Amino acid sequence: MNDKESIPDETIAHLGHGYDGIQEYDNPLPGWWKNVFLLSIAFTPIYLMIFHVGAPGRSIEEQFQAGLAENTRRQYAEIGDLDSSEATLIKYMNKPEWVGVGGSIYKANCVSCHGPDGGGNVGPNLCDDNYKHIKQVTDIVKVINEGVAGGAMPAWATRLGHKNDIVLVSAYVASLRGSKPAKPKAPDGSTIAPWPKPE
Ligand code: HEC
Repeated sequence: MNDKESIPDETIAHLGHGYDGIQEYDNPLPGWWKNVFLLSIAFTPIYLMIFHVGAPGRSIEEQFQAGLAENTRRQYAEIGDLDSSEATLIKYMNKPEWVGVGGSIYKANCVSCHGPDGGGNVGPNLCDDNYKHIKQVTDIVKVINEGVAGGAMPAWATRLGHKNDIVLVSAYVASLRGSKPAKPKAPDGSTIAPWPKPE
């Protein structure tokens, strides 16, 4: 094969390979490029030590979690420690910003069994008027705190970070009633009276 004629720059050595008209030249990457590459390799263990292995709390994930917790604490300072009375649940299920906080607790812990929008999966549909363990709105707190069905519905009293988490996720669950989930599971249990009206 005489491919030498197609060499554009005679100063670069041809390695003698040619395939489908593609020629291989001994044309190394520029020195600065290799140095940047080597530097990035040398930097890796330093980065790993500082942000992942060394002191806890430095990885982006941990910083995010800390920021989130800090933000929640600040928000909770605004409302103090909520009780789990009917009045509190009804009040907070009608405050969209707090329903949002309850919703984020739900998204982090409950979606696997109750579906992303409460339509149900392993657990029952939380959007219809039928409930298995709930007669009044305060029963939601009890079920979430203590669990039911021998742990098929786990107890969350000690698993969620703050007592307000339980109250707000309960208010969120109460707010799901009457919504239209994408894939509703057939109703379970019996139909109960509507939640009381907010004061
Ligand atoms: C591991 C799966 C699982 C997870 C996670 C889970 N649940 Fe459940 N949940 C269930 C099951 C199963 C039932 C129904 C138990 C039964 O059939 O008696 C249930 C029942 C309930 C009920 C009562 C419904 C009714 O009809 O009486 C509520 C309310 C509830 N869950 C809320 C939650 C909330 C809020 C979370 C997140 C903090 C959560 N669940 C997380 C499985 C789960």
